[in-house]
Amino acid sequence: MLKVNENFMKLPPSYLFVDIANKVDQFSKQHPEVEIIRMGIGDVTRPLPKAVVTAMQKAAEEMGNMETFRGYGPEAGYEFLRSAIAENDYQKRGVAIDKDEIFVSDGAKSDTGSIGDIFDVDNVVAVCDPVYPVYVDTNVMAGRAGEYREGAGWSKIVYMPCSRENGFLPRIPNERADIIYLCFPNNPSGVGIGRKELQKWVDYALRNQSILLYDAAYEAFITDEDMPHSIFEIEGAEKCAIEFRSFSKTAGFTGTRCAFTVIPKELIFNGVSLNKLWGRRQSTKMNGVSYVVQRGAEAVYSEEGKREVRENIEYYLNNAKIIKEGLQKAGFEAYGGVNSPYVWMKAPNGLSSWEFFDLLLEKTGVVGTPGSGFGISGEGFFRLTAFNTRENTEKAIERITQSFQA
Ligand code: MLT
Repeated sequence: MLKVNENFMKLPPSYLFVDIANKVDQFSKQHPEVEIIRMGIGDVTRPLPKAVVTAMQKAAEEMGNMETFRGYGPEAGYEFLRSAIAENDYQKRGVAIDKDEIFVSDGAKSDTGSIGDIFDVDNVVAVCDPVYPVYVDTNVMAGRAGEYREGAGWSKIVYMPCSRENGFLPRIPNERADIIYLCFPNNPSGVGIGRKELQKWVDYALRNQSILLYDAAYEAFITDEDMPHSIFEIEGAEKCAIEFRSFSKTAGFTGTRCAFTVIPKELIFNGVSLNKLWGRRQSTKMNGVSYVVQRGAEAVYSEEGKREVRENIEYYLNNAKIIKEGLQKAGFEAYGGVNSPYVWMKAPNGLSSWEFFDLLLEKTGVVGTPGSGFGISGEGFFRLTAFNTRENTEKAIERITQSFQA
């Protein structure tokens, strides 16, 4: 008889954000009169920049003409986009990344979730706790996580707790780790990392011949000058890091889908080039991102595109400020939100993350994400996103601060 991948049986039955969406749907059906304010999943609400839309319209026209129609594109992305990324996101910042080190894809979620394909199942994985669930769940699927122990997590995963006490920055683990996932600015805590601190991780990885999987999907939200926008700004990172970037949160592409992964050619382990391995994997498993979408992504780097992206980011950052300062003024504990669209608050009155989720929805109609959904150390915390309208953000904070005592 057919055997399924038993590793899937070890996972919780549904993905965190699917769970939340189902709960909210159910609540809405029971209480159609309640106006729901969604600050749960980190999904953008502002429309695509005009420059992007215009470029996509033009590209769609090209696809409708015999002379300019295109079929399959290059699996790793069109040269026009890879060059624009290399130049604008790296070379102009003094980082020597070449277009051949960039792989365009449909999302950082897909790439962080699939990158494990090129690594042996016996590698030891380290993650921050709390953490974006994709890193853990995909390692469970691959059989790299061991067994789940209630209250202690996966037996083979090394957890690096991020708490108030360490400013939500992970400490170098005592155990050896081969694959280390880092995400900065961090999802879910909203905290960024400085150059010096990141250098410690690069040094650790170089010393141990480990790989850092650096998720920089939120780099566009960095306001602090001391924070690197790319791990490749750090000395030695080109020999020990892979970086994941996305147009989703930067330019409103959550529904349009475009991202990229940077794998330097200098990443050689045991004589094997990771750049080549990933190229092999991608060309086998995908046919790239649509031409129309890639033209849209290219327009993000035009003068008009950059200006519009900046405006959107500032709009969201201002919402984050309203959330954080509103909560703090009312006496709640709140973190992040300065270099990130996420605010990480302590659930009031000793409530657990899910208790607060339920009560908040019931009393205010506001949806957030329970911190415990991101890991054991997230228990007692709650994530709110800045991806809403100014009006809704203000309304949500007013409702929260009026309905709960800090
Ligand atoms: C989140 O809410 O954590 C993220 O938006 C989900 C994602 O990007 O996949």
